Amino acid sequence: MEEKVLKIKEELQNKLTNINNLKELNDLKVEYLGKKGLVSSLSSMMSSLSIEEKKSFGKLLNDLKNEVTSKIDELKEKLEKEELNKKLENERIDISLPATKISCGAPNILEKIIEEVESVFMSMGYDVVDGPEIELDHYNFELLNIPKGHPARDAQDTFYIKDEEVLLRSQTSPVQARVMLENGGKKPIRMICPGKTYRRDDDDATHSHQFMQIEGLLIDKNISLSDLKGTFDVISKKLFGENVETRFRPSYYQFTEPSVETDISCFVCGGKGCSLCKNTGWITVSGAGMVHPNVLRNCGYDPKEWSGFAFGFGAERLAMLKYGINDIRTFYQTDLRDSKNFDRKEV
Ligand code: DAH
Repeated sequence: MEEKVLKIKEELQNKLTNINNLKELNDLKVEYLGKKGLVSSLSSMMSSLSIEEKKSFGKLLNDLKNEVTSKIDELKEKLEKEELNKKLENERIDISLPATKISCGAPNILEKIIEEVESVFMSMGYDVVDGPEIELDHYNFELLNIPKGHPARDAQDTFYIKDEEVLLRSQTSPVQARVMLENGGKKPIRMICPGKTYRRDDDDATHSHQFMQIEGLLIDKNISLSDLKGTFDVISKKLFGENVETRFRPSYYQFTEPSVETDISCFVCGGKGCSLCKNTGWITVSGAGMVHPNVLRNCGYDPKEWSGFAFGFGAERLAMLKYGINDIRTFYQTDLRDSKNFDRKEV
């Protein structure tokens, strides 16, 4: 018996030296320690032994079992370590390789200019409000003192959706009327409304059938044109630089009286004359005026008690001026390169 056990040990030692991986080791474990393995088959021989023999053989068998187990476990640990190291070696990250470039987005330039305008007006206590893009003729024209058949409608070639009543708003001015009506002729108002507007224009470098306006309205007591001038001064300097000067030129809008075109001195040539200002030294940036008494009345405000001013910026025009863009279509082509270039061009 002892000889047999010795032989098994020897054989095991030999076999262990030839094991190369965990799979082979596992097979070996089954061969020796499995239910039908060598060690178990030796134990089954016990029954034919005398009590004395059983004692010594039992001890022998136990030692054998412990030795086989510890040798296999030892090798197992070694092989596992080796495999892990091999894996780590294969999966090593080469940090000197150039990284794959991740293309990042950039803020849409129109969105950016609108946010800038919003933050200047919010700092002066204005609310930013929204209005419907599908609008009724009533708000888009009639409440604004532009009755049906009035020639002022021709300037805003409108997309009608249903009969002559439902349309795509041709300006953001209807939001003025809506906000005044909501306030019931009783409360002062300070609001701006940036939003999309639509006109049946052919698309070219300076026209688009859809464009963005930023409407503004202030209603209070004793408001005069000089308040409008002061407000326009602040926004112009914030957007185009502290050295910019402003001026008003007389104009005509049906919903304001008096009406003005608001100009800033050219921020490129400082007023000397250049291609941007077409050698005039001035650039027009918005239409504005004192809210017409008819509009106040139509929207529930008593013109004897209340007065106010309104203005309308073209957002694309502001962005084109500020970022030196000369084609309005650039804004709608969603070419990431454009947004990125604008980002760098910021003045
Ligand atoms: N709604 C005008 C337009 O689309 C712009 C405008 C001019 C708005 C004067 C105003 C304003 O509020 O007072 O041409």
